[in-house]
Amino acid sequence: MKFFADTSNIDDIKDLDGLGLLDGVTTNPSIIAKSGREFIPLIEEICKIVTGPVSAEVAATDYETMIKEGEKLAGLADNIAVKVPLTEAGLRVCKALSDNGTMVNVTLCFTSGQALLAAKAGATFISPFVGRLDDLCQSGMELIEDIVGIYDNYGFETEVLVASVRNPMHIIDSARIGADVVTCPPSVIKQLYNHPLTDKGLAAFVEDWKKTGQSIL
Ligand code: G3P
Repeated sequence: MKFFADTSNIDDIKDLDGLGLLDGVTTNPSIIAKSGREFIPLIEEICKIVTGPVSAEVAATDYETMIKEGEKLAGLADNIAVKVPLTEAGLRVCKALSDNGTMVNVTLCFTSGQALLAAKAGATFISPFVGRLDDLCQSGMELIEDIVGIYDNYGFETEVLVASVRNPMHIIDSARIGADVVTCPPSVIKQLYNHPLTDKGLAAFVEDWKKTGQSIL
């Protein structure tokens, strides 16, 4: 399973990379707005740090402008994945860009039908938003299970990139289902380390080792 960081925070990206837990980065207009930084230079900086795919989203909603924005973003670095919304115009852009060899991440996916269309449009990644579905008492994980099954039925190469991840169970359940990628706030990935019995057990080992009066070095 690949871990992507759903952030534009350079320090958090470098931290995750240092732990060997960074396979890519996803951003969206809200994440960019929150950063307070200029979009293009920020994406260029991230692409220099990250060797895996870096998703940069178009801002327009019409085909003509989206295609121009997508081509500009694709030209920033070889590891850019152009992010487009799951709309008719967005999927037209997906087809055009993917036909030209550009990675495309189709975002704002909430149904298996939408995911089927994205795969047929040649998407590199499909981003179903599990947290936002859970917020409406609709099971995000059932959607992931459905999409993975449909894609397996037809051998679609589009990678299921689980997005809107809110907690470590989203990661674990996505892995159980066999999703290709999860994109998360780095803090959620780091929560996977935590268990009170690990902390308690280590404290006991340290305490008992001290009693031996020995040193390994
Ligand atoms: O970046 C796409 C997705 O991960 C957004 O998540 O938490 O805004 O629903 P969220």
